[in-house]
Amino acid sequence: MKFTVATGPTAEVQADLIAIGAWEKAVESPEARATDRALGGLLQRAAKAEDFRGKEGSRVEVPTAGLRNQRFLLVGLGKRKGATPDTLRKAASLVARRGRDTGARTVAFSLESWGTRDPRRAGQAIAEGALLGTYEFDRYKSKKENGEKKREPPSEFRVRVPKAGPRRALEQGFQRGQIIAESVCFARDLVNEPPGTLTPRRFAEEAQKMAREAGLKCTVLDEKEMEKRGMGGLLGVARGSDEPPRFIQVEYTPKGARRHIALCGKGITFDSGGLDLKPADGMLRMKYDMAGGAAVLGAIRAISQLKPKARVTALVPTTENMPGPRAYKPGDVVRPLGGKTVEIGNTDAEGRVVLSDALGHAVQLGADEIIDVATLTGACMVALGILAAGLFANDEKMARRLLKSAHIAGEKLWRLPLYEEYMEQIKGEIADIKNVGDRYGGAITAALFLREFVGDRKWAHLDIAGAAFTEKDLPYCVKGGTGLAVRTLTEYVTASP
Ligand code: BES
Ligand code: ZN
Ligand code: ZN
Repeated sequence: MKFTVATGPTAEVQADLIAIGAWEKAVESPEARATDRALGGLLQRAAKAEDFRGKEGSRVEVPTAGLRNQRFLLVGLGKRKGATPDTLRKAASLVARRGRDTGARTVAFSLESWGTRDPRRAGQAIAEGALLGTYEFDRYKSKKENGEKKREPPSEFRVRVPKAGPRRALEQGFQRGQIIAESVCFARDLVNEPPGTLTPRRFAEEAQKMAREAGLKCTVLDEKEMEKRGMGGLLGVARGSDEPPRFIQVEYTPKGARRHIALCGKGITFDSGGLDLKPADGMLRMKYDMAGGAAVLGAIRAISQLKPKARVTALVPTTENMPGPRAYKPGDVVRPLGGKTVEIGNTDAEGRVVLSDALGHAVQLGADEIIDVATLTGACMVALGILAAGLFANDEKMARRLLKSAHIAGEKLWRLPLYEEYMEQIKGEIADIKNVGDRYGGAITAALFLREFVGDRKWAHLDIAGAAFTEKDLPYCVKGGTGLAVRTLTEYVTASP
């Protein structure tokens, strides 16, 4: 999809589908009135007939048959007060989807009612919304057999402004939005891929391919190398599977970088629970247990094109968690990097065990800041639901900046506490630390466990168990992997500290 800027009266924009944004309780803007006049009153009639009030997500299609070949669309933007760039993501997604479903090659969206505030962010949000909203994972649909024709998204998305002033800023925004949206879709593809094909080896190959295309350095460690380095956590979890594990490292190293950020992502390509086997409904979606790994790879992909002055290393420990004959057992002790011994209380709490090696490795690399991203606990899902990720941090500034980045990126992130009192729950009986706590507060004890492996480094942990996958279509995401955290991480790294 190409993004362009158009000027002049709305009714004269060249496009198959022309959309006009309307605020709630202010549907009749000067723009709407002018366009209505040009259309001989069709706009108002359609709005009246459908009782259109500009509610967010609502729309009215205006038939112009006999008068013009174009379709017009009134798009509700919701309340003007409290509108954010996410309002534009949703609107742009709606317009692009409608264009796709009506066979439009060119769609246009008028920004007049939005105004000219921060056109760069507006351009970014529109490009993200249009591209993310029309994303589909159809690799495994045999179109020819059921006779369906593939619905192609529009090839051009025009953003109409009354005057050409904000053109440059809009175009800069489009470019940034395109880079970020493509990287989110890269992550979504990895998450949506079935577990039988996206094995740890294949995951590593996909990372290598991405790194090659992005001009990044990629190193993949095999079991022998892991053993040499002492990655006993990842090796322990991998014992129950026939598929060999991998440790993926991708590096972005610009000249003159003043800080080094490590992004660690949980890469369990399938979580059966191990010997503490999950029941069927708990296991069904467990291909998405590598969504944290996909997110950090998506983020470094975007970062490599946006070129911030920060060194970034993405680390992804990847394996299946299976109950094979040599599987690690409840009661076992494993030795991750960094010297602390881990007693296994439950083999299904494997994410923190493989991440401990990644965190230890990040410390050894000398990272100043470490952020890990993981589909870590069902408890976090219970606490925050399926739209938000949990944030834990040992550094106030990092926490604040991550919350701000998430807000700008349009992703929901909510801070949760690291209560020292709960450390007692994860004291080991025969080893230093145990991988499970008591029944309650599971998201917190999981985060406390991870904190044990970051030493004195600034660290934050994103628990994305709920929001990494959606069971129903969202305003700009279809059912499946969401690519959550790519946008927040990219914003965090590219914003000035
Ligand atoms: N991958 C799961 C967490 C999860 C659950 C992600 C649901 C997405 C949706 C993780 O490995 C796990 O099984 N955690 C256990 C920990 C427990 C055994 C302490 C959990 O949350 O139940
Ligand atoms: Zn598990
Ligand atoms: Zn898991």
